[in-house]
Amino acid sequence: MRRLSLLFLFLPCSIWGQNRIGTGAVETLYRQHCMSCHGENLRGGLGRSLLDADEWQVVGQGRDFIEYVQTGDEITGMPGFGSSLSVPEIRSLQIYIDEMRQRSVEAAGISPVVKEGEVYSAGGYQFRVEPVIEGLQLPWSIYFLSAREALITERSGQLRVWKDGELGAPIVGTPEVVTQGQGGLLEVAAHPDYSKNGWVYLAFSASARDADHPKNCMTQIVRGRIVEERWQDEELIFEVPAEFHRSSGVHFGTRFVFQDGYLYFSIGDRGAQDQAQDLTRPNGKIHRIHDDGRVPADNPFVEIADAYPSIWTYGNRNPQGLDAHPVTGAIFESEHGPRGGDEINRIRRGRNYGWPVITYGMNYNGKPITGKTALPGMEQPLHYWTPSIAVCGIDFYEGDQFPDWKNDLFVGGLASQELHRLVLAGDQVIRDEVILKGEGRVRDVATGPDGFLYVVLNGPDLVIRLVPVVNE
Ligand code: HEC
Repeated sequence: MRRLSLLFLFLPCSIWGQNRIGTGAVETLYRQHCMSCHGENLRGGLGRSLLDADEWQVVGQGRDFIEYVQTGDEITGMPGFGSSLSVPEIRSLQIYIDEMRQRSVEAAGISPVVKEGEVYSAGGYQFRVEPVIEGLQLPWSIYFLSAREALITERSGQLRVWKDGELGAPIVGTPEVVTQGQGGLLEVAAHPDYSKNGWVYLAFSASARDADHPKNCMTQIVRGRIVEERWQDEELIFEVPAEFHRSSGVHFGTRFVFQDGYLYFSIGDRGAQDQAQDLTRPNGKIHRIHDDGRVPADNPFVEIADAYPSIWTYGNRNPQGLDAHPVTGAIFESEHGPRGGDEINRIRRGRNYGWPVITYGMNYNGKPITGKTALPGMEQPLHYWTPSIAVCGIDFYEGDQFPDWKNDLFVGGLASQELHRLVLAGDQVIRDEVILKGEGRVRDVATGPDGFLYVVLNGPDLVIRLVPVVNE
């Protein structure tokens, strides 16, 4: 028997892309109020180290961080900051401490991802990473029509077909897309009855065609058929009036779930965070329409005057992952948070997911957003990451190549270059482990019809698959 010498993956912080960690307004707050006792790098001085939260004596042992920092503790000599720091500021310091702890763990090379040569050991399997589709330009979404054939979008506007190992030229005649910022040609999926009706659905950022505001754009959905490498029979499925288009190039959301004749899809807040709470606006929401574009009469807000009728849920920041549980049909969402506070949510009819009134994150510049992480009437995430991994596409694994992973939720991280495996028990996430790290920014993930797990990477731009190593 060969003994495996397991190598830990050492990754410099810069490849996390989370360059903002430890910077900005919150760092200044730490330096002004906490550093004199807890040390320049949080490793302690007069006060204890703040990097080992699991060993704290008081906070987490019945006392809440915010309340503790507000009131302090006379006996141990921790001063109270209730009169000099606001609740949101104290909350941002808590996020900062989480960030710095994560960074110290990284620096120590303690990573759960184990790779020996080309073989990963994670999630109870040994597997290799195989490149499958090369020659792509920022691929965004993949959808398998069969084991031999997949559809792929490239953000700059091309829809491509991969068939029998060959990547075809871009399909001619697909919609014109606005490619500013995070926008472009984004989601692709086929109708569940594709073999009968041939419908392919696309979501993308479309121009408002408004001469006064030429940069304004918004998420739009069409369906069409691919006939002899041409896009044909196009039908408009969803668009919003020009007044709701925005010049911002961020937070388009756009992922699809088809279920029982309905199409669920996401639109991010488009950079206007407060509009996520505004039911008269389509941004910052999950929507539900019939698969032909009609608005269902039983949607939750159709009776409310001026409410945008296709809204299914609200308070969603930038949902870049959506998938239905293979057994229960429950819809799960990944939501790209601010600095800290990436979420996994279970999407339920009419619910408010809280953004930006509650969040586990703060602004990218280290300024607080709110001190609140929970409020009555607002949903809690099933799981969240602080610091953020920059969540993107998600997929429930449904293949046979990794039987122990069946029905587990796989979640891609862009900045973290990670693929996570979440094990669920009902609505509870009972395990979160990193399966892959450092291969590239993980944009999308999908179970292939061959049972392998396919991962869409950006930088390098390619599609890879995870293939188990079979021991003889
Ligand atoms: C005057 C010195 C001093 C300053 C300034 C100070 N602390 Fe402390 N802090 C302490 C002491 C002393 C303790 C008690 C624990 C120990 O070190 O033994 C403590 C403990 C803590 C704990 C751990 C509690 C536990 O459960 O063990 C946290 C968290 C904390 N401080 C956060 C902060 C934050 C955030 C700031 C800045 C807003 C801050 N402290 C500023 C002295 C200080």
